[in-house]
Amino acid sequence: MRIGILTAGGDCPGLNAVIRAVAKTLMHEHGTEIVGFLDGYHGLVTDTTMRVDWQTVSNILTQGGTILGTSNTANPFEWAEDTDDGQAVDRSADALAVFGRHRLDGLVVIGGDGSMAIAGRLADCGVPVVGVPKTIDNDVPGTELTFGFQSAVDVATEALDRLHTTASAHHRVMVAEVMGRYAGWLALHAGVAGGADVILIPEIPFDWDAVFEVCRRRHQVGKRFSIICAAEGARPEGGKMVIERRVEGSPDPVRLGGVGRLVAGTVEQRTGIESRSTDLGYVQRGGSPCAFDRVFATGLGYQAACLVAEGRWNRMASWQNGRITDVPLDEVAGASRNVPPDDPLLAVARSVGTSFGEG
Ligand code: F6P
Repeated sequence: MRIGILTAGGDCPGLNAVIRAVAKTLMHEHGTEIVGFLDGYHGLVTDTTMRVDWQTVSNILTQGGTILGTSNTANPFEWAEDTDDGQAVDRSADALAVFGRHRLDGLVVIGGDGSMAIAGRLADCGVPVVGVPKTIDNDVPGTELTFGFQSAVDVATEALDRLHTTASAHHRVMVAEVMGRYAGWLALHAGVAGGADVILIPEIPFDWDAVFEVCRRRHQVGKRFSIICAAEGARPEGGKMVIERRVEGSPDPVRLGGVGRLVAGTVEQRTGIESRSTDLGYVQRGGSPCAFDRVFATGLGYQAACLVAEGRWNRMASWQNGRITDVPLDEVAGASRNVPPDDPLLAVARSVGTSFGEG
């Protein structure tokens, strides 16, 4: 058997752990040959590859990033990269030709919701696909958890701990802006772990007065600092998400950013309490996976390898009810997973006095 493998979309800790587990399992137990496509779908369209063998996947378990490189703009169906007028063209025929030229039996795609949607379209064109869900945003449908998320929660939590001490020393309101796109998972989990006084998530548009009130009340009772953990997609009631830029060519061109600064500025103006904001940015995506993600990514990679070996194509490895399993790819492609109003962690946070800025 010969298979292709690629990592697509924004990187996250654990990508190399998945590549290693897929490759080692298939090479060791099934004698499979593996072709690595470089820089996500870019490599599949342009036939840019590297050989994946024992040596390539040795000693990469703990490495951040991805040995295959990635891209969140390369889409075979809407290829904007080398057109003069920037208009996207359909280069899926090139991708299919490359797949055929390498005499591949299937393709393993390690990616988030956008990459899974592309994988689904390739599957519709006859490419046998297996998906592995990655992203620090934890917003891929069909799985209760994505690898990379826990590592990002750890980084954001450590940042909140550090912001706590400086906030306390200066009697300030500190706002930490965390990633997550349209989902609040990262802000919710890091906010609870870091004991944030206010957590702002896209799923619960906030009331400005409620946020001011938390900061004022804390000052009045002698707690002269407050910590606000804001998801980049958080927005006030009746307001819009703060967009930093557009990246044309990626499945979703919108890049969020700036709500932390907005919240800190507004809180300072309206309460008189000195406020600062910190954007955690790409620090959350870089670096070595935490122990949980090393184990989880290895398990997901093994599951993907089993799907390949058993010929159970067009499925995605997934985490459901506390164990690794798999789901049909067409239940995943094109959707996204948000924090539901009845998520148990919302009630837990409220019970310890955390505000979600609700009016
Ligand atoms: O999907 C992961 C993510 O890190 C989001 O949380 C963030 O909004 C986005 O990627 C940033 O993407 P880029 O790498 O294009 O700046």
